[in-house]
Amino acid sequence: MDQRDVAGHYAEIAAEYDEHWVYGPTYVPWMSARIAEALSLSSADRIADIGSGTGLFAREVSRVVRPERPILCVDPSEAMLRRISARPSPFLTPVLASAEDVADMRTTLPYDELDAVWLKESVHHVADPGATLRGLAQRLSPEGRLLVVMLPTTIQYPLFRAALDRFEELQPDPADITGHMERSGVEAQLFHVEHELRLDRDKYFAMVRARYMSLLSTFSDSEIEKGIEEMRAAHPEPVLVFPDRFAFVLGVQQGGER
Ligand SMILES: C[S@@+](CC[C@H](N)C(=O)[O-])C[C@H]1O[C@@H](n2cnc3c(N)ncnc32)[C@H](O)[C@@H]1O
Repeated sequence: MDQRDVAGHYAEIAAEYDEHWVYGPTYVPWMSARIAEALSLSSADRIADIGSGTGLFAREVSRVVRPERPILCVDPSEAMLRRISARPSPFLTPVLASAEDVADMRTTLPYDELDAVWLKESVHHVADPGATLRGLAQRLSPEGRLLVVMLPTTIQYPLFRAALDRFEELQPDPADITGHMERSGVEAQLFHVEHELRLDRDKYFAMVRARYMSLLSTFSDSEIEKGIEEMRAAHPEPVLVFPDRFAFVLGVQQGGER
């Protein structure tokens, strides 16, 4: 997808985004806790969520961490950021910019350095992840941590075959992201976390029809409907149960002791 398609996709789904991703009451708190834990977040940290979207996870992280300075929610989609401004929080500051803008210092942030930065499911939208991660690593404090949360190269979602195949074609490899981090001068490690999802079958079909993953925007309406028919035949069960597995690539500045 080119940048214009990406922007159009998020402008279209922004209003419903949180509803799709809330999945169930446990998913957002679970993921937010994994992010806070991996980054060893404390209330004194200067934090940025790059590609924050609607701030769904930053809001939950802030509820737990209570940062002394607001978490910077950085995203190039005005429509996604508007969801943050619609529910203002003293713990969240929206910043309209891309990861590249921050990495290349084209955007001035309120903090000179950042202690903890995460990108959750946004690195696949970055054109040159090596250069961008290097730039982001340079914005870290000596104790700084940089976390990329992403899907692995294969997923076990109950999607139609063509969608799963296209996912595998497009998804960057977490091992490559680990390599980029290492070349940026941070100590990098790759590990995985997993959560079981239980979703009402019709709700999941509606999410696919609403193209809840940007990948689904590469299919026409008729391809989506055909895909849903395929899913309907393969999954007669009323509740779909499947693992949601994430790769966590954590980089720690060499000056830090975590
Ligand atoms: C799948 S959403 C993830 C949003 C949020 N991190 C979450 O997990 O709910 C991807 C987000 O990346 C943003 N994005 C697209 N291109 C980007 C870029 N070049 N730099 C940073 N974010 C980008 C999109 O606007 C969108 O909000």
